[in-house]
Amino acid sequence: METDLEQKIRAAIADPQNVGALEGADAVGTVGNSDCGEMLRLWVKFREEHGRKVIDRATFQSFGCETAIAVASMATELIRGKTATEALALRTEELSGALGPLPPMKIHCAQLVEGALRAALAPRTEPAAAPLTLAAVPSLSDSLRQDELKPGSLRVRLLPKP
Ligand code: FES
Repeated sequence: METDLEQKIRAAIADPQNVGALEGADAVGTVGNSDCGEMLRLWVKFREEHGRKVIDRATFQSFGCETAIAVASMATELIRGKTATEALALRTEELSGALGPLPPMKIHCAQLVEGALRAALAPRTEPAAAPLTLAAVPSLSDSLRQDELKPGSLRVRLLPKP
C-alpha cells in the first residue's frame, strides 16, 4: 500500500513543474556527476520588483530519482518571487514544500536540489555576466553526451517516447 508521501511524489512527478533548460537564465548550478548517475542542474532567472532582484523563474533537469524530481518541482515553485538571499535561507526540509518531511533515506534527494540551488545562487565576486545561453550551458543530457566521450564514463541512451 502506498504511503502518503509516495502518493504525493507520484502526483508531483505526474505533472512536474519547471522542467527543462532556461534560455537567458542569469545563473545555473549543477550538482552530482555522471559517475554515480545522480545529477541535477538548476537554472535561475531574476527580475526587478520594487527595487529588489527576485527570482522570476527557475527550471531544472535531473537524472535523480522520483523524489529528487518531485522536490525540484516543488522548490522551483517555492523560490519564485524570493531574492537569492531568501532562497538560500530555505532549509533542506523546506524545499520539499507540500511533500512534507522526507524520511532519512530520502533526504539526500532534497540535498541534491539544495546543492544545485546553492551552486546557482552562491554569491559571486565577479561582476554579473550577461544572461546565459543554452549554447554556453548545455542541457544535462547534452552534458552527459559530452561526458560519455571520456573513457570509463556512463553511456546515455534516450529512449523514444512510446
Ligand atoms: Fe538518489 Fe533520490 S537522488 S535516491
